[in-house]
Amino acid sequence: MGKYHGQANTILRPRTTEQVSEIVKYCADRRIGVVPQGGNTGLVGGSISLQKEVVLNLGAMSNVRSFDPVSGILVADAGCILQSLSDYLSPHDHIMPLDLGAKGSCQIGGNISTNAGGLRLLRYGSLHGSVLGLEVVLPDGTILDQLSTLRKDNTGYDLKQLFIGAEGTLGIVTGVSIVTPPAPRATNNVFLALPHFDNVLPLYQAVKTQLGEIMSAFEYVDRTAYDMALSHGLGSVLDANEVGDAQCFVLVETSGGNEDHDLEKLNTLLESLMTADEPLIYTGTLSQSPGQFEALWAMRERLTEFIQKEGKPYKYDVSVPLANFQSVVDAVRERMIAKGLYGDHAVSKVMGYGHVGDGNLHLNVVAKHGYSPEIEAALEPFIYELIASQKGSVSAEHGIGSMKTHALRYSKSDTSIEWMRKIKQVFDPHNIMNPGKVLI
Ligand code: FAD
Ligand code: MLT
Ligand code: ZN
Repeated sequence: MGKYHGQANTILRPRTTEQVSEIVKYCADRRIGVVPQGGNTGLVGGSISLQKEVVLNLGAMSNVRSFDPVSGILVADAGCILQSLSDYLSPHDHIMPLDLGAKGSCQIGGNISTNAGGLRLLRYGSLHGSVLGLEVVLPDGTILDQLSTLRKDNTGYDLKQLFIGAEGTLGIVTGVSIVTPPAPRATNNVFLALPHFDNVLPLYQAVKTQLGEIMSAFEYVDRTAYDMALSHGLGSVLDANEVGDAQCFVLVETSGGNEDHDLEKLNTLLESLMTADEPLIYTGTLSQSPGQFEALWAMRERLTEFIQKEGKPYKYDVSVPLANFQSVVDAVRERMIAKGLYGDHAVSKVMGYGHVGDGNLHLNVVAKHGYSPEIEAALEPFIYELIASQKGSVSAEHGIGSMKTHALRYSKSDTSIEWMRKIKQVFDPHNIMNPGKVLI
């Protein structure tokens, strides 16, 4: 994003867990801060060195340790790139339980440390469920080996859960045991244009009811984001005349066991949506080939990349009730208009997209000519207060990093923050592990 500029003058790329342990011990003895870094694709400034801490990048630890095709349990080094793990599993007819636009660069250790959600959470659940075990180097250099491959283990506190989403503040994840699902036999997707935002909720209900267990993604794209994608050269996946004044779009993916059966379900769904007394959609495209399947996904997955090209993005990754997705985006746009900051001279676009099934809206505000204190002051704390008033979360999936340390209090009570501090103190009394992130 060009928003965070690391200050490190030392970056280390260990090859083994023992080397990570030695480095951390050395740093702990000398009170040198350590910033764990994966693929560096995080969006909240968590993987950069704020004050010349040593960066410890896991990229050289990228071996698969074992895979059991019967249980689907994969054990891998934390530095494995998510896409490489998917490629590894493909001939074994398995897939990773998570998928995100950054898959070509992000690492499984980074995914776990940010508790990444992504495009498959709706179907396969969160990493808190699919991660079976972790190997972690603690802030004093001790290796905590909890690399279990057991599906069930109720022997007291489940320590690994603390490291999932800890953003590198409690230790360095070096190994991962994760349960992977069998690859679906048939995967399809459909891209739909909706007349009005109010159609999203009934559409979601209809799709859930009619597709049942084969629905694997339900993603939202508002009109501004859709038009932006087309302006960046993506071929239209829908007939422009039929799209008309559609206010928003939805991508539905199915992953099932029988191509004919799944297609029949999808076709019946489309027909019922189009022929209802008050149609919930204007039009839709059902992918007919692997190329078209990818093209439909690109309309959603490439939005992050296009936004970077539009200007400098203020990214707010929030959980709010689904019914409020559009009103949150509208409220922010209206605020920018009222402040005289909307237009090509300042904020050129305010848009929303996200993971409907997870109640996760990605609100993006594009500053055409760069970040400015004036724009930031108009956005914050306005947005955080708006989200808090809806009992939402200021970080649905990207984390707190260094961007939202001041905003944590909008989503966590004083008591929760106090206990988070106590936990940090127990693991990292000298505050050497990713200082300045999550808690300040
Ligand atoms: P980094 O960015 O390197 O680090 C992220 C944080 O984790 C930092 O705090 C770092 O210190 C810590 N960390 C990294 N590795 C370790 C380790 N081994 N041990 C301890 N701490 C560690 N996120 C979603 O949740 N869902 C999405 O759909 C999604 N889509 C994205 C799409 C794009 C195009 C981009 C650029 C980002 C997207 N993200 C998404 C953001 C997401 O958080 C990251 O992409 C990913 O999970 C971070 O992995 P990484 O390896 O790049 O970690
Ligand atoms: C996404 O869902 O596309 C990601 O979380 C990235 C983003 O918010 O831009
Ligand atoms: Zn997301």
